[in-house]
Amino acid sequence: MPSKCAKLKDNKMDKRFAVRRVRQRDLDRILEIEAASFGADAYDRNLFAEYTRKCGGLFLVAERGTKVCAYSIAAISPGRTGNRAELVSLAVDPAFLGKGAASALMDSTLRRLRRRGIARIGLMVKVTNQRARAFYEKYGFRKLRRVARYYEDGADGLSLAKDL
Ligand SMILES: CC(C)(COP(=O)(O)OP(=O)(O)OC[C@H]1O[C@@H](n2cnc3c(N)ncnc32)[C@H](O)[C@@H]1OP(=O)(O)O)[C@@H](O)C(=O)NCCC(=O)NCCS
Repeated sequence: MPSKCAKLKDNKMDKRFAVRRVRQRDLDRILEIEAASFGADAYDRNLFAEYTRKCGGLFLVAERGTKVCAYSIAAISPGRTGNRAELVSLAVDPAFLGKGAASALMDSTLRRLRRRGIARIGLMVKVTNQRARAFYEKYGFRKLRRVARYYEDGADGLSLAKDL
């Protein structure tokens, strides 16, 4: 019979997500998460396949056990004042929302970018996406500007950035 402490530790471990680089065989599961999260705005398989090739160690998945629960993609591009990063996409399976999967991915992404000497990360979020805006605010992203009708449905975008 395990002690109470061991049991507590097990429960806590259960809640953790493991973060690793994407593999080709994750794509079906990522497409499911994408469709459930973004509907008509979902990226297609070809685009994900391209990001898998291009974004190397910055296209990540969060797993609980062997189930992929969330993914994130960051890309590095040259800028006037040095290389900069963009968070291209981030989504959590609706069944796993609010359990820390997005935070696990963001923590890992920020660590990987700092290791590469990247000074800043930017992203674009829909003005109406309150949940994502609260998430980025928690991470200290600041608003740079509002871009009118950035999204296909006519919604405005907010350009956010964070110094690393
Ligand atoms: C935005 C998103 C990735 C956040 O995922 P998540 O699983 O809720 O994130 P986490 O569990 O790691 O939550 C971290 C923080 O997000 C914020 N958050 C989470 N759920 C929230 C809610 N229901 N309301 C407001 N803020 C919330 C909180 O600041 C939370 O921090 P806390 O746990 O310390 O309070 C997720 O909602 C999602 O996939 N949305 C659909 C796709 C999308 O919009 N992607 C972003 C495109 S720019």
